[in-house]
Amino acid sequence: MTAERVNLNSGGAMPLLGFGTWQLRGDAAYRAVLAALEAGYRHIDTATMYGNEDEVGRALRDSGVPRDDVFVTTKLPPERAGREDETLAASLRALGLDAVDLWLIHWPPRGSVAVWERFVAARQDGRARAIGVSNYDLGEIDELTAATGVTPAVNQIRFGPALYDPKLVAGHRERGVVVEGYSPFKTTNLRDRTLVRIAEAHDADPARVVLRWHVQRGIVVIPKSARPERIARNLDLSFALTEAELTEIDALAGR
Ligand SMILES: NC(=O)c1ccc[n+]([C@@H]2O[C@H](COP(=O)([O-])OP(=O)(O)OC[C@H]3O[C@@H](n4cnc5c(N)ncnc54)[C@H](OP(=O)(O)O)[C@@H]3O)[C@@H](O)[C@H]2O)c1
Repeated sequence: MTAERVNLNSGGAMPLLGFGTWQLRGDAAYRAVLAALEAGYRHIDTATMYGNEDEVGRALRDSGVPRDDVFVTTKLPPERAGREDETLAASLRALGLDAVDLWLIHWPPRGSVAVWERFVAARQDGRARAIGVSNYDLGEIDELTAATGVTPAVNQIRFGPALYDPKLVAGHRERGVVVEGYSPFKTTNLRDRTLVRIAEAHDADPARVVLRWHVQRGIVVIPKSARPERIARNLDLSFALTEAELTEIDALAGR
């Protein structure tokens, strides 16, 4: 289990490891999120678009884990631009929360700045403890900062060793934006010989090596699984990769 956190530019911190919930619907979503909370995850990633906020909310309540021990993220679909407040209200109702820990713009909408202004207002009125974006490039982030003076706390982007770009990571760091990676397994060949060898050296498996690499690189990672045994195993990151191993994994991007 990893309890490591990363600080956000607006205050507070988020756990580097979270549980992804895309493509989990209905009872499967409820069971997977409950299993994740019981296994020890304290960070759940959902979205209006995933259609599972009700089930996430029910699992949060049934788990008995205190509200403030769990970091909850949801996302506004770009087609809800102009209806931000009602969409956030619906998310909060479904999740059974007074505030989300992080509210993201799921993709850049047309009129991104106007949407961002509504996000800034939601942070000010306390319904979103932190605000950020997803699938933005650095230029799009700079546009929001220039227009409002508020820089997104997080950018959630497709990420994994094969997509590792130190310049992109540094560009986010310079701006004070946390990189949150999604689809860590879908973007990785889990049979890659380097990952298999490093996994064997730590009595781990390639999936956990990928997750551990994110954590040691300071990148938030949110693996999804519907299977209780994988949900629990993906959380077991109690080993440390060496600098040489981290560098070898960096090199899988072939840059
Ligand atoms: N912001 C965005 O636009 C965006 C886009 C995509 C995803 N996301 C977020 O990121 C989360 C993670 O991304 P993702 O769901 O696309 O993909 P992922 O977490 O990279 O991969 C999930 C797949 O990997 C399998 N898996 C899980 N643990 C495994 C293990 N230990 N070994 C081998 N296979 C394993 C799962 O199968 P089983 O379920 O059968 O275990 C599932 O098929 C999403 O759930 C969502 O919360 C955000």
